[in-house]
Amino acid sequence: MYNKNFVWIIAAIAATGGLLFGFDTGVISGAIPFLRSDFVLSDNQVENLTAFGLIGAVIGALICGRITDILGRRKVILASAFVFATGALWSGFAPNIAQLLLSRLYLGLAIGVSSFATPLYIAEVSPTKIRGTLVSMFQLLITVGILAAYMSDSYFADNNNPESWRPMFYVGVIPAIILFVGMSFLPETPRWLMGKGRDNEARRVLSRTEDPALIDQAIENMKKDIQQDAEQMHWTEIFKPWLFNAMIIAVGIMFFQQFVGINTVIYYSPEIFLKAGFEGNQAAIAASVSVGVVNVLFTILSLFLIDKLGRRKLFFIGTTGIFFSLLLIGFCFAFSELLGDYTKIVLVACMLCYIAFFAISLGPLGWLIISEVFPLKVRGLGSSIGSLANWGFNTLVVWTFFKMIDGFNSLFGKEEMGTASAFWVFAAVAIIALIWGYFFIPETKGVSLEKIEEHWRKGGSPRKL
Ligand code: BGC
Repeated sequence: MYNKNFVWIIAAIAATGGLLFGFDTGVISGAIPFLRSDFVLSDNQVENLTAFGLIGAVIGALICGRITDILGRRKVILASAFVFATGALWSGFAPNIAQLLLSRLYLGLAIGVSSFATPLYIAEVSPTKIRGTLVSMFQLLITVGILAAYMSDSYFADNNNPESWRPMFYVGVIPAIILFVGMSFLPETPRWLMGKGRDNEARRVLSRTEDPALIDQAIENMKKDIQQDAEQMHWTEIFKPWLFNAMIIAVGIMFFQQFVGINTVIYYSPEIFLKAGFEGNQAAIAASVSVGVVNVLFTILSLFLIDKLGRRKLFFIGTTGIFFSLLLIGFCFAFSELLGDYTKIVLVACMLCYIAFFAISLGPLGWLIISEVFPLKVRGLGSSIGSLANWGFNTLVVWTFFKMIDGFNSLFGKEEMGTASAFWVFAAVAIIALIWGYFFIPETKGVSLEKIEEHWRKGGSPRKL
């Protein structure tokens, strides 16, 4: 029976995949200060620990396209829920650093897989009319997942218990079970069923999710789609000159999204707060909850702004704000002696501005733009290159952050200048992003995807779109 609310229930359950993605990337931030003392970790080992999860995500994102086609979207999400649940238990239980590294790599696989399979599942089961909204819900849930991790980290953080990190990891089991149980009641997507020639089953699912008057048309559209997919351009087409600009845009936006240092703040904010003079892990972790709250609120705001102000305006406003915030974060460290007790307050304020500007610009724009700039026939491949670039650059930045601080420390002979300089390097990247963006950020607001393709075919520049 057709039920308007059914599709919202489906989307809500499936979007738990987004929540888990956010949760399992964010949870490390509050765990690190405790792991540092419990396992006596060096900066290098902390970076490895964070990077291992991300390397897992790179591998997950790489294999996901194939396995979602072969096994179906639903089975892959079920498998990722299983990995999320067992990975949470394994990482909470890990008796030594080697096991912890392996468990993070294992969890990372699920993160990479769900970053691809969940939006795909949601997009394919949603009726066209509300697809945009439902897909953006996924992005929002990532930030909600990060916030949930911060809050739960803050709840379990106990200065007197060096093993506080264990329950922080265990909590991840709860959303994973919700996803697993919920998903086992949900259907496979009609689009995948049709692709496998299981038309009757597809029709049965559609009869529950789609307005009865629109079912035949939906099936017709899917057939056309599948036929087009069959005549897909060869994958090498994506590297042909007429698509150079699309490729530069997709990889470039992800480069800048990551190299302005977003995840040094998302994963290491308690560490940064400790460097700025917060006393005790509990206080530092509590302060980072504010980073999570602002991230969620401004991501919600971005959903309204993206189609109103357009991509270019948001990019320039956001990236300029990011530049000034990073500059000021650097000053907070460089002049911490002068600022004395005020250092902490000013630093938190600057970090919140930084996150707010990111959440309205580079955050959502990265994911949106990679889904818009490629022609239909290579869109799947194009956006997976974009997300692979995202995870790859992410790994590089979080794996080198403390090394960079150490490098500058020895150069200047002063710890505060090391941290300050690292943020100034990110600020310099923001300036380059502004120049790059002037030439390469396309204004795709209100432009149909077919028109974008035509523009590339004619050799048009991104700025003129
Ligand atoms: C980025 C992630 C980041 C998150 C923060 C996303 O758009 O891709 O790397 O952790 O935003 O909200």
